[in-house]
Amino acid sequence: MNKNTFILKGNILYSKTKTELSVTEQGFLICFEGISQGVYPQIPDAFQNLPVIDCGDCLIIPGMTDLHLHAPQYPFRGIGMDMELLEWLETHTFPEESRYADTDYAQNAYHIFAEDLKQSATTRAVAFGTIHPRATELLMDNLEATGLKTFVGKVNMDQNCSDIIREPSAKTSLDVTVKWLESVAGKYQNTKPILTPRFAPTCSAALLEGLGKLQKEYRLPVQSHLSENLSEIAWVKELFPWSLFYGDVYDHFGMFGREAPTIMAHCVHCPEEEIKRMKNNRVYIAHCPQSNINLASGIAPVRRYLEENIPVGLGTDIAGGANLSMFRCIADAIGMSKLYWRLIDQTKKPLTMEEGFYLATVGGSSFFGRVGSFAPGYEVDALILDDKNIRTTQNLSARKRLERYIYLAEEGGKIVGKYVAGKRIF
Ligand code: GUN
Ligand code: FE
Repeated sequence: MNKNTFILKGNILYSKTKTELSVTEQGFLICFEGISQGVYPQIPDAFQNLPVIDCGDCLIIPGMTDLHLHAPQYPFRGIGMDMELLEWLETHTFPEESRYADTDYAQNAYHIFAEDLKQSATTRAVAFGTIHPRATELLMDNLEATGLKTFVGKVNMDQNCSDIIREPSAKTSLDVTVKWLESVAGKYQNTKPILTPRFAPTCSAALLEGLGKLQKEYRLPVQSHLSENLSEIAWVKELFPWSLFYGDVYDHFGMFGREAPTIMAHCVHCPEEEIKRMKNNRVYIAHCPQSNINLASGIAPVRRYLEENIPVGLGTDIAGGANLSMFRCIADAIGMSKLYWRLIDQTKKPLTMEEGFYLATVGGSSFFGRVGSFAPGYEVDALILDDKNIRTTQNLSARKRLERYIYLAEEGGKIVGKYVAGKRIF
């Protein structure tokens, strides 16, 4: 029998809709060749001969997607959190990223990062590397070894940043990107390239134009940053005075959803026209609540994005966010939505636990296809959670145990099993 064909038995939860959980206590999740055939209270006759993996009293939930993170920033996570974005980039981020010119340093750092990501709740991730093609390939090698499914980008930046991290010209940046793409083409099963202009301020018009052409030629998805910080937004207006709004710069060069699946991180301060364009173009928003707190960027209107049916997922934005934990990310997203409601707009109700969980699973995972749910037809990315060491005198329902796990994962919670598209990772 195919190794990726089995039944998981335990307390199974997944998002039935944006606002509703499916909960089956002591139920059976049927995985056939990596694809869910559904969750049942008893094993259906057609699947009686499949091997059953008994997870006891554990919770079984979909794996989570980290829709935005910077792998090279992992070494300084949790350090230097007292600055806003632009000063933080120059002071902490660019000096660290410049170290990845050294492939030994890159290999060591990316090995640690990949090992930690493997143990986390994340089964899919979309990551920035650095400008360095060799280091970015090492990041891809290390991620491929984990069994997780990821998109990885070699960063492009040719202006308005310290020399240590600036590519000398648009042409060099594009040539190096093509070399990187050719070097990694067909090399991996689970690791794919994504075009990665860092953000509009550090990309010349010539570079953005060239990247738009590469996107078409290689049919690549795109990731970047958008409307994260007020000074950043003013700077984009100065650099690209013809633009109607920040995102219009990316759209002008064919990298804003219409031509390619696109992720824009943050979207904290988007004007109406920008929101409308994102909605029309089906741009994915990576909401990164902890980063928005640490860099004092602001509070993103996530409820609004959900109401508008714009695709939204969650990102840690390592090292803007200090934690790899997607559980922490959900708790932060819920907390931030409460502040938005209390302080900014009382018509935008806070996110519920169900909605936060949806964002971390189906919301972001849909960038990878049918992933993030256990409904029939979805790829089985699954986490087995043991919460017995998060002690309480209460007798809790599976739903309450999940809610508590989101808030208390680091206080005794343990991920004891992890599957990606039906393949056991550990
Ligand atoms: N904008 C441009 N680069 C970065 C980065 O590395 N982190 C964050 N949070 N925002 C950015
Ligand atoms: Fe970022």
